[in-house]
Amino acid sequence: MTLSRRQFIQTLGISTAGLLLPTLNGSLLAKEPYAATDTFIVPPLDYGQRNGNHVTFNLNLQRGKSHILPGFTTPTLGINSNYLGPVLRAKRGDTVSINVQNNIGEESTLHWHGFTLPATMDGGPHQRIANGSTWNAKFQIRQPASTLWYHSHEFHKTGEQVYKGMAGLFYVDDETSDQLAIPSDYGIDDLPVVIQDRAFTADGEFRYASMMPEKMHGMHGDTILVNGVITPTLQARKTLLRLRLLNGSNARIYNLGFNDNRSFYHIAGDCSFLASPVSMNRLILAPGERAEVLVDVSDRKRITLKSYKGAIKSSGSGMMGMMMGRMGFDREFDIMQIDARQAETSPYAIPRSLIRPIRLNPNEAVRTRPMEMSMGMMGMGGMGMMGGMMRGRRGGNGGGGFTINGQSMDINRIDFSVQRNTSEIWEVSNTSPLPHPFHVHNTQFQILGRNGKAAKAHESGLNDTVLVNPNEVVRILVPFRYYSDSKRPYMYHCHNLEHEDQGMMGQFTVV
Ligand code: C2O
Ligand code: CU
Ligand code: CU
Repeated sequence: MTLSRRQFIQTLGISTAGLLLPTLNGSLLAKEPYAATDTFIVPPLDYGQRNGNHVTFNLNLQRGKSHILPGFTTPTLGINSNYLGPVLRAKRGDTVSINVQNNIGEESTLHWHGFTLPATMDGGPHQRIANGSTWNAKFQIRQPASTLWYHSHEFHKTGEQVYKGMAGLFYVDDETSDQLAIPSDYGIDDLPVVIQDRAFTADGEFRYASMMPEKMHGMHGDTILVNGVITPTLQARKTLLRLRLLNGSNARIYNLGFNDNRSFYHIAGDCSFLASPVSMNRLILAPGERAEVLVDVSDRKRITLKSYKGAIKSSGSGMMGMMMGRMGFDREFDIMQIDARQAETSPYAIPRSLIRPIRLNPNEAVRTRPMEMSMGMMGMGGMGMMGGMMRGRRGGNGGGGFTINGQSMDINRIDFSVQRNTSEIWEVSNTSPLPHPFHVHNTQFQILGRNGKAAKAHESGLNDTVLVNPNEVVRILVPFRYYSDSKRPYMYHCHNLEHEDQGMMGQFTVV
């Protein structure tokens, strides 16, 4: 008896999946979300202590107990708080001095995601903060108004520490953003929306990447938190809302939209405003990415912000598709409700334009650099993958598992250096079957195109993270300005935090 090619692939697919999914029968990972609990919470806003252009922030990394599930307490991490941190806020031109005191009982770091800054202030895996000690980060803000964020970047433990709550937003204002006729009343019509998915154990603790597939795909939870609250309801105070969305999840990619399919207006990406609002009704947001959107609720309805299926474009192999579907990596969720029945009329309308278009010049690039993300042992099935991942975890450079340009992260290896005051074109490709959000420190880049096609209008501003789907090549123009250091590196990595922790990361210096 001979097997047809298709039967053979099916058999192979099932047995390989069997290796990967020993404990999985569809029930554990694809649980129904916990029910919505509460009202929308606005995190505290922290302007620091200002002295002219010098602003000092005091942050305490702490352990806490949070009430997330009704009737349970969840041990969490937070910054000046039980879970997550305050929204820090400063202006372009300010010199910020941030004291970070670590009291979580283990080593940590705090990284300023999206900032251009000296390498020693970056808060990456080299700026370790021992338990009980304080680290000071001081740098001048030299970039446009944007919604940035900060989070733990502890080597091999970023995923776990961020998952438990070590993250917060950082708003940068500038002269232009101060002039825009858009909602800007914090907590009233200008709202931070940190979206995260979490899984819980039976006794209400966060359950973190305890299973093999969660290490490979990254940790996906079954319950959505917004600013630490399960699928909350926002009582809209105004009829035009500005939502500053952060995908603060470890691995989940969202396909956001409203249940009545209304349009919303994309006004800012990761690191800048767009030239003009882009109307859309679905937005893919990958881990690490931010988007500011305006939502018109002048019809005073109750609406639901949802995430729809279709967030993940896998390479179409039967096994991956099956795993994703069964395991809930690509599924529909309610994110939050907006109840606009009591909203007052907003003084603002959707603006026609926002800022002067930002155009970095690709002709100024001094070179083109390939960046190939791959999961080397994938093709060999589960056991090979496991071997590769174990090498990645030890931080070796065995070439298996999660790699960029064939190398797994080694904290003692600088992968390359770039010249200060130049820019480069990076050709970011993905030869693995899973999507990877690619992030670079110390820069705000421009997306030139995907697979030869121009970037989409809503990604035309400055960004620090870009989603690269299987078989895609994304060209980005990456400038290196202001700061150089021949020894201390910056990171580039996949912002799926489990992939990052298992080695899909590299280091470069700016000289
Ligand atoms: Cu948001 Cu290197 O990280
Ligand atoms: Cu970063
Ligand atoms: Cu990845």
